[in-house]
Amino acid sequence: MSLSHKSIDLKRRMREALRGGGEQAIEKQKATGKLTARERIIALLDPKSFHEYDLFVEHAGRDFDMSEKYLPGDGVVTGTGTINGYAVCVFAQDFTVAGGSLGYMHAKKITKIMDHAMKLKVPLIGINDSGGARIQEGVNSLAGYGEIFFRNTQASGVIPQISVILGPCAGGAVYSPALTDFVFVVDKISKMFITGPEVIKTVLGEEISMEELGGARVQAEITGNAHFFAENEIDCFEQIKQLCSYIPWNNTKKADSFPKKPPRTRQYSIDKLFPTNSRQPYDVKDIIRAISDDSEFFEVHEFWAENIVIGFARMSGNTVGFVANQPLVLAGVLDVDSSDKAARFIRYCDAFNIPLVTLVDLPGYLPGVDQEHAGVIRHGAKVLYAYSEATVPKITVITRKAYGGGYIAMCSSHLRADFVFAWPTAEIAVMGPEGAANIIFRNEIKSADNPEEMRKLKVKEYKDKFANPYVAAAYGYIDAVIEPDETRDMVIHALHISADKIITTPSKKHGIPPF
Ligand code: HXC
Repeated sequence: MSLSHKSIDLKRRMREALRGGGEQAIEKQKATGKLTARERIIALLDPKSFHEYDLFVEHAGRDFDMSEKYLPGDGVVTGTGTINGYAVCVFAQDFTVAGGSLGYMHAKKITKIMDHAMKLKVPLIGINDSGGARIQEGVNSLAGYGEIFFRNTQASGVIPQISVILGPCAGGAVYSPALTDFVFVVDKISKMFITGPEVIKTVLGEEISMEELGGARVQAEITGNAHFFAENEIDCFEQIKQLCSYIPWNNTKKADSFPKKPPRTRQYSIDKLFPTNSRQPYDVKDIIRAISDDSEFFEVHEFWAENIVIGFARMSGNTVGFVANQPLVLAGVLDVDSSDKAARFIRYCDAFNIPLVTLVDLPGYLPGVDQEHAGVIRHGAKVLYAYSEATVPKITVITRKAYGGGYIAMCSSHLRADFVFAWPTAEIAVMGPEGAANIIFRNEIKSADNPEEMRKLKVKEYKDKFANPYVAAAYGYIDAVIEPDETRDMVIHALHISADKIITTPSKKHGIPPF
């Protein structure tokens, strides 16, 4: 065959492989508001940067008439490209080909691109749109998932791993994302479950729709499996690009620096946003914006466990990870979910050299039978563990309440915060004045002629003594009492001088966090 004939042959083979599951299947995909696998990758990456590999890989199924079937690319598109000019490895499952199900060679394509990502030390982005293990390939599909899970775990904390759920994803198609750092979902398109509605109906006799069982809102608001929620696929890809601007490309690097910008103080000034009445709630996101470059805050897990706020911002041009109690929701208490949310983010930031800024205003851990029985001891301990373990710069600002276990847990100096600042409004104590007075002055209150008057007196006595930052300051537990409008400068200076801190930790294989 001459060169031109070879070239024609190549083009024919490519055309065939690139047609995916065929026109009808693609039409069905589009009718549900979904892009095709390749369109998704192209929309995500920098223009013209995508290079595809393993286009001619064929499936290895032999049973149930599979050997007669042609599955283009074995239902997954893999390759490399760039985001914001930097290399990334990417795969996108093609639902139009056997429902994006994962057979032996499909898995091989994914593990190959994962190995590239680890070798090149660049992020891995997986677009999942799959019915899970390909049923016809039996144990070989399970083996494929096992190989993926192993690599997800090896890559954890080395390269960023980002998962996008863009279709009905079952079984292994959601367990691999669960092992990655960030999961994105899109309204009405993403569905995640281990066992779908059919199995639930068969086993339990319960009827539920895919959307109600594991739709995007369920995952973003109730389970916390998803970190980011988007209205549509293009919005989702824009969010991924934004995330990529805040994180370093691997664990040996720091995130890119950007030109320093002042906060937009006309809109976000602490003076106006922080209430004078200490019982009045406020939105801590406004305080974050009031001290961040250009008042930009990229929130993670925005709709789940909203009593704690986590996310990325920049201070003096450099990425920081914010962890902040949210007084607007449950007075900012730590509970099972908010502890999980904070602890995982702290560990992400620590693994990827992102300094932590913690804003404290909480009455403590949430009391109650539900919480105790849900394991608030174990979950709450994750926050203690994560902060204690973290060796990145850790700066803490106590704005108002820092009571009890909450004071310790929210990156106190005892868990090795590098600098702890308190506003004059800070109240650092074992518990709130009302509760404390009721316990320690119980007898005086009970035996007083006017118990209510006595209670008020004792609450005031306790408040005067402890509901301020000066007792903690007297012991050196906080480094400075600062005016709220000094916060940004103080934090930036503290971050600057802590940037190259050296911490030696005890030699061990790994710790055993309270998972
Ligand atoms: C083989 C599959 C498949 C699978 C879907 N298809 N899932 N083929 N193996 N796992 C095929 C369908 O047969 C169909 O082929 C095409 O993909 C589209 O599927 P539909 O059912 O028509 O689409 P839809 O109605 O949108 O439903 C999507 C779905 C459903 C919810 C994902 O297909 C489903 O429930 N699939 C099975 C899910 C599952 O139980 N997977 C195994 C998980 S166990 P045709 O030829 O008709 O177009 C697992 C093990 C790892 O993953 C566990 C690790 C812990």
